[in-house]
Amino acid sequence: MTAFKIAPSILSADFTRLGEEVRAVDEAGADYIHIDVMDGHFVPNLTFGPPVIGALRSVTDKPFDVHLMIDPAQPYLRQYAEAGADIITVHAEADTHLHRSLQVIRDLGKKAGVSLNPSTPETVIEYVLDSVDLILVMSVNPGFSGQAFLPSQLRKISRIQEMIGDRDIELEVDGGVNPSNVATVIAAGATAVVAGSAVFNGVDYTASIAALRRGCAD
Ligand code: DX5
Ligand code: ZN
Repeated sequence: MTAFKIAPSILSADFTRLGEEVRAVDEAGADYIHIDVMDGHFVPNLTFGPPVIGALRSVTDKPFDVHLMIDPAQPYLRQYAEAGADIITVHAEADTHLHRSLQVIRDLGKKAGVSLNPSTPETVIEYVLDSVDLILVMSVNPGFSGQAFLPSQLRKISRIQEMIGDRDIELEVDGGVNPSNVATVIAAGATAVVAGSAVFNGVDYTASIAALRRGCAD
């Protein structure tokens, strides 16, 4: 089986029991905890910020994969680092000075990620490839969980994997990933997948995560 990482997105968790939900997906085999930060401006939804992330930090040792859907992101990077983020991902579309933001994240001692909306071409990251640790390809328009995977992004995933070459960069795909399409996503070149509804809509998270891994084995 191709080894790949699974990052459950807590956007689909039960917010009344957020700590327990994070602990549950940790114990169920999550590799990363994906945290979707939304500002009601870059995306039409609002979620959580540094205090919530800081509160969750004591619940798990798994890396916090913090996806910032906020514009601007740069003024807030330190707060997310101090709250306990391990990977901080900014959107290329939200950042006029993308290269500088990536440098700031690395200077804070964190892994630097860049995300691309479905309509954004992969060429925008050509000149920052040596400054990133993770590339997050959005396979839905960001803002909500439970949307359908956009097959148009498969070609982008393959192209980015070619651009990465032998660099040590995680290629993560976010949106609409489920046991039926995960094999296609991994075959295109992804090394990690985010899964919101595919994990949290089930009652048994160990089974949901196993189903994603099995989807790739078939
Ligand atoms: C969308 C978020 C995703 C979302 C994924 O804006 O970035 O992480 O929670 O949820 P699913 O897997 O249900 O599409
Ligand atoms: Zn996300």
